[in-house]
Amino acid sequence: MDSLLLRGGTVVDGTGAAPRRADVLVREGRIAALGSDGSPAAADRVLDVSGMVVAPGAIDIHSHSDERMFVSSAMESALHQGVTTVVCGNCGGASAPVLGLAASELDRDLARYGVERTWTSFGEYAAAVERNGTSINVCSFVGHGTLRMCVMGAEAREATAGELAAMRALLASSLAEGAIGMSTGLIYPPSAYGSTDEIAALASAVRERGGLYASHIRNEGDELLEAVAEGIEIGRRSGVRVQLSHHKASVKRNWGKVHGSTALIERAQADGIDVTADQYPYTASSTGLSVTIPNWAHAGGPLAMCERLRDAAVRVRIRDEYVETGRNWDAIVIARAAKHPEWSGKSVAALAGEAHRDALEWTCDALIEHDGAIDIVHHSMSEDDVRFVMAKPYVAIGSDSSANAPHGPLSFGKPHPRSYGTFPRVLGRYARDEQVVTLEEAVRKMTSLPASRLRLHDRGVVREGAAADLMVFDPARVADRATYQDPHRYPDGIALVLVNGEIALEAGEATPVRAGRFLRRGTDAG
Ligand code: ZN
Ligand code: CU
Repeated sequence: MDSLLLRGGTVVDGTGAAPRRADVLVREGRIAALGSDGSPAAADRVLDVSGMVVAPGAIDIHSHSDERMFVSSAMESALHQGVTTVVCGNCGGASAPVLGLAASELDRDLARYGVERTWTSFGEYAAAVERNGTSINVCSFVGHGTLRMCVMGAEAREATAGELAAMRALLASSLAEGAIGMSTGLIYPPSAYGSTDEIAALASAVRERGGLYASHIRNEGDELLEAVAEGIEIGRRSGVRVQLSHHKASVKRNWGKVHGSTALIERAQADGIDVTADQYPYTASSTGLSVTIPNWAHAGGPLAMCERLRDAAVRVRIRDEYVETGRNWDAIVIARAAKHPEWSGKSVAALAGEAHRDALEWTCDALIEHDGAIDIVHHSMSEDDVRFVMAKPYVAIGSDSSANAPHGPLSFGKPHPRSYGTFPRVLGRYARDEQVVTLEEAVRKMTSLPASRLRLHDRGVVREGAAADLMVFDPARVADRATYQDPHRYPDGIALVLVNGEIALEAGEATPVRAGRFLRRGTDAG
């Protein structure tokens, strides 16, 4: 398309500035002009968007869509929310670079969708994403757990000096090939086997190249404050900029601890440490059922864990050990189990009851049957905490989900509704209906705030010269419709999505255009 004029809309520009009437002219992938008095006038195509808000497309700073474009390049559940960039490689796990156990584990994952891996290095992965095509932009962290798997498998021990140097070298080359930083997943082995010293040493390599360090911290429940302190300490020691992922207090006895954790963040900020956070707008989390198994039992990787779980003595040892979920079996609901679609939407307590089995025994058997890969939804947070965290100006919105679709292989099971609803839910429920934040603040949290963390210099704002990643929504109607029991539902009110100036979604339908790019540190960011 040569040029497109969005006429009659209200621009919420992503900076937090008040909404204003303005027409937006898009040409050659960029915002060519903004005008409020009938100009700019001429365009090859004019769309009337009166009554609508024109905003930057959402930048999902915490996505797990790393491989989803290879299954469906439309990235449906993200695109339909107005997401124009997904940030992958979170929680310590990325799709590149992959060697050794990292490569074989990724291949096992991809085989479920019949996708073949064609890359090893980060640069090759980026090129593969672009060759494949994607409706929206993609960028990625390097995963600390992935680095460990590349260099030392899933061994439950400290890295040697040589292994640390090898991880650092892989990280540095990936950053040079465009990775935006590094993530840890400190509840997930093997990332969880890394010490604060190891992570700080790797984080300094990230700092040297101006990247971001994102962390799923070591504990989001009983030891939330200690875990936030560790994240801040890594920033203090290495000088790296820190992003604390999906900030929350998990399990009822810990509700309210977000007051203390945000106070720690704010004190660190006052001390000059560059630390911020993000969250998703729900009171349930989602992860793998294997988080109910203590870290030591994961040594060697998922298949080794399953082998170990066959041993009755191992199960006895597991029974009394602390795990962050508290093994709250009533609140742990199966989202996806490949061999048992009928489990989706039912709690472990209910399924174990039906099977006349003890819940932990049932869990071990279920994990063995699925080679360790079962997704869960865990109802564990308080609404007050979600609202309190959202009101903090340094907290961005990120979905913590992967792109799904209501049809085809990605329609399986009952994934967390955040995959379909995160951004419209913040705009509709939390901004318009409950006024936890203003509309312009809600938009800022999903656009210029994540863009500034990623140093994406020409995205996340509506201004002349910026990349034309835009969403157009009806502020009166925008709302999430996905629920826990019926998650594969697109939101209401998202009318139009532009990616790099091309129409990716119009009248509620994804177009065949694949204008998304792989965004690289060095050229697009940093
Ligand atoms: Zn996480
Ligand atoms: Cu995550």
